[in-house]
Amino acid sequence: MGMSDFYGPADRAESLATIHAALDAGVDLLDTGDYYGMGHNELLIGEALRAVPRERVLISVKFGALRDPQNNWIGYDGRPAAVKNFLSYTLRRLGTDHVDVYRLGRVDPAVPIEETVGAIAEMIAKGYVRQVGLSEAGAETVRRAHAAHPVADLQIEYSLLSRGIEAEILPTCRELGVAITAYGVLSRGLLSGHWSKERAATPGDFRAHLPRFTGENLDRNLALVDALRGLAIEKSVTVAQLAIAWALSRGADIVPLVGARTRERLREALGALDVELSAADLARMEAAVPAGAAAGERYGAPAMVHLDSEKGSAA
Ligand SMILES: NC(=O)c1ccc[n+]([C@@H]2O[C@H](COP(=O)([O-])OP(=O)(O)OC[C@H]3O[C@@H](n4cnc5c(N)ncnc54)[C@H](OP(=O)(O)O)[C@@H]3O)[C@@H](O)[C@H]2O)c1
Repeated sequence: MGMSDFYGPADRAESLATIHAALDAGVDLLDTGDYYGMGHNELLIGEALRAVPRERVLISVKFGALRDPQNNWIGYDGRPAAVKNFLSYTLRRLGTDHVDVYRLGRVDPAVPIEETVGAIAEMIAKGYVRQVGLSEAGAETVRRAHAAHPVADLQIEYSLLSRGIEAEILPTCRELGVAITAYGVLSRGLLSGHWSKERAATPGDFRAHLPRFTGENLDRNLALVDALRGLAIEKSVTVAQLAIAWALSRGADIVPLVGARTRERLREALGALDVELSAADLARMEAAVPAGAAAGERYGAPAMVHLDSEKGSAA
């Protein structure tokens, strides 16, 4: 996502080199959205994968967000005809004949989820998609979607700073056998040890508008992150590695997505695979960043209203 949108300018050559370095290191899942830079991210991935055997990587694609030429978000479309239309553009941009996991980026309140999932199931039957996924759906929506067609995974924010799914959504997914693709494991960089009060977001970086990155909230959240530094130093690892290792420790059904945009960040992220967290380490981390301690909501108010996942009891 950050290679095409949201986090300010990215370097194209470095983005391609980062994808190749990830594949070389054994990463086998790439996540994108057709609306990340209005097709830019899919074209980038298509270019990166041109000489890579298709079966080497799973591609997860989100669709459904509508945008205008000024980059504004103008709604979501989960109608069956829209699903098929979005998919055909995606296949062309990625230069592939199928998407491994296809998912609506945000639940469209105007279209029953069964209809959206039904259209994806039709595309599975025709060989264009392998699995149904969901994104930021609440427990009830997950149940309904899964009853219409088995859902492979729910993509949703989950990190030490965003633990809302633990109340209802995660238990529901586990009951149904739906995996979790956890995004924002580094809380978009806030939980990485690389963010500071002095680091002003560059133009086009939407973190400048996120509640957790602004004003007093930022001070409080950076204090939480600071509380992790002691453990990181003791274990000779970085805060980002601790945060990723924490997500990895939550269960084999939780797959952390990491938004590395450069080879340097990727190297650091992959180092998390070698971090062993004891029960005592995990207890220290959760004492440093207690559940619910983050100051500010995950998104600004206009985006929060589109989160089906926030409509239930989970926060
Ligand atoms: N379903 C959804 O609604 C949804 C929403 C958001 C994202 N996603 C998916 O999840 C992926 C990850 O999301 P994200 O990028 O927001 O989350 P993230 O991994 O929590 O944050 C990535 C940001 O953290 C910073 N960072 C610092 N150290 C890092 C390190 N060692 N490795 C990687 N990043 C480091 C980077 O910022 P700098 O490069 O600026 O330093 C990077 O832009 C996205 O690419 C997207 O596919 C899905």
